[in-house]
Parts: sequence; C-alpha cells; structure tokens
Amino acid sequence: MKKDLGVVPGVYPMPVLMVAAYDENGKVGVMNAAWGMICAMDKIALFIGEGHKTTQNILKSKAFTVSIADKAHMDVADFVGIATGNKMSDKFERTGYHAEKSKNVNAPIIDEFPFVMECELAEEVKTENMHAIVGKIVNTQAEENVLDEKGKVDPEKLDALIFDQFKSGYYVSGEKVGKAWNAGKDLMK
Ligand SMILES: Cc1cc2nc3c(=O)[nH]c(=O)nc-3n(C[C@H](O)[C@H](O)[C@H](O)COP(=O)(O)O)c2cc1C
Repeated sequence: MKKDLGVVPGVYPMPVLMVAAYDENGKVGVMNAAWGMICAMDKIALFIGEGHKTTQNILKSKAFTVSIADKAHMDVADFVGIATGNKMSDKFERTGYHAEKSKNVNAPIIDEFPFVMECELAEEVKTENMHAIVGKIVNTQAEENVLDEKGKVDPEKLDALIFDQFKSGYYVSGEKVGKAWNAGKDLMK
C-alpha cells in the first residue's frame, strides 16, 4: 500500500557533477550540480541557478567542463556545492586540487576527477519554470584506471557518487545487474 508523500522531487539516482569554468581573469571556478542530464547524444543540460559564480563564468567564457565526482573526492565535491565563488575568492585553491586548460574548449579540466566532458556553451534556456545551460560535448577524457579492456568507461571502476534528493545522501553504485536493451527482450516475443 503506497502512502502519500506530497510534492517530492523524486528522481533517484541523481548524478554528482562538477561543473567548472574560468572567470574573466582566467581563474578556475567549480560547483556541484546534481540537476543535470544528457539531453542529446552530444549535449548536456544543467539546471543551474543564474546567480552562481559558475553560471556567470560559463555565460562569459562560453565554455565549461563537467566531471563525474567519485567517492575518493567526496569532501571536495561537497565543498564546492556549499561554498560560492561569489563570496570565497580562493574557493578552488582551498581544495588543493589541480586544473589545466582543455585543449578543445576555453575551460579548466580538474585533474583529480576521473572522467570529464569538455563543452562549448550551446544555449542558455530561461523560462518561467527553469534556467538551463546546455553544453555541446566536443570531447571527453577518462583516467586509464576507469576504462575496460575495450577502452570504454567502466562504471564498476568509476566509483561515481550518486546524490539522493530524498535524504540528501551520497551513495556509490557499480554493480552491473543487467544489460540495457536486453533485460526486457523476452517480453518482446
Ligand atoms: C549535492 C549538491 C547538488 C547541487 N546541485 C545543484 C544544481 O543542480 N543546480 C544548482 O543551481 N545548484 C546546485 N547545488 C548548489 C551549488 O553547487 C552551490 O550553490 C554552489 O555554492 C555554487 O557555487 P558558485 O557560486 O561558486 O558557482 C548543489 C549543491 C550540492 C551540495
């Protein structure tokens, strides 16, 4: 028997994305974003507030990177979701992390996170109900230790953080329990 819970933004799992961009002086900024999703094969949509320092940086620099945060870097991943570059000028420096400029877009790649998408700003979408930044993914990079023998990112090696909006937890998941476009095949007969 189900119980009514009222209005709950009930999507689980949510990603833990590290969105990074340069400010007008070339300083690295980064924030945590859970409200983000692939919206086309080469596009990502981030539902991020207009007032965030990172958002302003993206709109000016026209580029950003999106990394997947992993368990080993949970403290920093959370910190960049609490602190704002609007008030803390050394926000990135405090993490002790390292960044280098992407060869493909005008945005920083943070060394410590295992997988990154390099994006050009494709569109800013503002409606009554949402504010989204859409990026065109022009390249991705992954550490070798998260790749399988065929060179694909292996979620079992990634240790990606998952955000739970019900209770504000971070989780990890990597167990493969089935194959997509296959687990339901028998019902097609
Ligand atoms: C787990 C987590 C998820 C978050 N997801 C989002 C999000 O999807 N969109 C958003 O606008 N802010 C999100 N935030 C809040 C921003 O990361 C936060 O406001 C941050 O301080 C912005 O940094 P900035 O001003 O330096 O860009 C999230 C924070 C946490 C801890």
